[in-house]
Amino acid sequence: MKSALTQLPCMLQALQHRIRSYRYPQTVFAWAIVSRIGRDDRKYMGRIVDLPCGEGEVARELSRSLKCHVIGIDISAECIRRAWQNTVEDVRFETADLYDYLVREQGIDVLCIVNSLFCLTDARRAIDLCLTAIRPGGSVFVVIPNIHSPNYRAFHRQNPCVNKWAVSAPEARAFFEAVGFRVVSFKGVARARWYGRSGLRWLRSSWHLYLLAENYCKTLLSLGTPSYFVIELAKQQREDTKLET
Ligand SMILES: C[S@@+](CC[C@H](N)C(=O)[O-])C[C@H]1O[C@@H](n2cnc3c(N)ncnc32)[C@H](O)[C@@H]1O
Repeated sequence: MKSALTQLPCMLQALQHRIRSYRYPQTVFAWAIVSRIGRDDRKYMGRIVDLPCGEGEVARELSRSLKCHVIGIDISAECIRRAWQNTVEDVRFETADLYDYLVREQGIDVLCIVNSLFCLTDARRAIDLCLTAIRPGGSVFVVIPNIHSPNYRAFHRQNPCVNKWAVSAPEARAFFEAVGFRVVSFKGVARARWYGRSGLRWLRSSWHLYLLAENYCKTLLSLGTPSYFVIELAKQQREDTKLET
């Protein structure tokens, strides 16, 4: 009884960390990626690189859900500092330019580019480099905003100049295929709109949990519009390419 009481503060701290780490929409992205990779506690999924990782939310959730070795890369030293600060999971974070990283590192099992192509200086180069950095049979997961969703429209109204790479779903598919990827799956996610919803501030720090619950219900009932697409890409096998030409 006494030892249980002494452990209580640590348990509460761990619970608080866990609740705070469920960020919306990043948790939804990570869950969609995990469901594609397949949760298997016995199988080692290899090296998964999340780049750019921002403050590491997706990397953390991947590390929690899969037996793997996760690395988060971001050019912002401040983002990487916060990622280290918020992470108790077994994830390694590194401050680096993703173009340099993808040239330097090869044979990666899974690469994730989450909601970031739109703010990169050269999205085409980043995707070209992904193709050479993954091992044969490896996968790339790209998360892009659905430009026809209310969430994106609200974002774009407030940030008209941010998007350097805003494409529709068919344009994205054609783009990845032109680079040399096979589009394995293309899934709409995150049906709870969050951008510009001022009412959420009354929920204080619980708004992420509220949106996760709202998203869960809307997904179950197919309500609302997915705000993002999670796209799984695989390297074209030489035989596939031959068949298509
Ligand atoms: C919109 S945030 C997305 C971060 C994260 N994937 C997420 O979903 O929360 C874009 C991130 O790209 C990073 N970034 C921009 N250019 C980069 C580059 N050349 N190399 C690495 N990171 C870069 C920024 O520092 C920023 O953290």
